Amino acid sequence: MANLKHNVFQMLMTISVFLYPWALAASEDSLFKNYHIHVVNDLPLFHSPPNVPQFYLHCKSGDRDLGDKAMLKGEDYTWDTKVNLFRTTLFFCNARWVNYKRITFDAFKASRDEGRCEEYHNSCIWSVRSDGIYFSKDNATWTNEYPW
Ligand SMILES: *[C@@H]1O[C@H](CO)[C@@H](O)[C@H](O)[C@H]1NC(C)=O
Repeated sequence: MANLKHNVFQMLMTISVFLYPWALAASEDSLFKNYHIHVVNDLPLFHSPPNVPQFYLHCKSGDRDLGDKAMLKGEDYTWDTKVNLFRTTLFFCNARWVNYKRITFDAFKASRDEGRCEEYHNSCIWSVRSDGIYFSKDNATWTNEYPW
């Protein structure tokens, strides 16, 4: 009887050793997922002829600098990122509404966004408005996460 128990135990151990790589792979699925980050310029135009950029966005991560980007009204600036092994991936952006406002916000932070940005085609969507930077995880409902 003791022997049978021992055998069953050994069998279970063997099975779990074989299954372990699959279990690990499943939990690391989101590491291979490509996230799409969108920042849309929804600011009104003030004292400016149409098509003159009044809004600048400069986004960076620890190892990528996306450069300073002038954005026209309505423009959607997009880039992709994967989540690193330690889940510390972070893109922060300096947003400048010339002569009015500026702010630095986190456009993608793995610990905060991995889950919520999975809901809509793996997209994090930001809308820059006159009273702040709004976030949406479904491109339908918006929250002012960075009032300025
Ligand atoms: C969000 O919705 C707008 C308006 O319908 C559309 O133009 C835009 O492409 C959508 N963005 C994404 C990331 O799906």
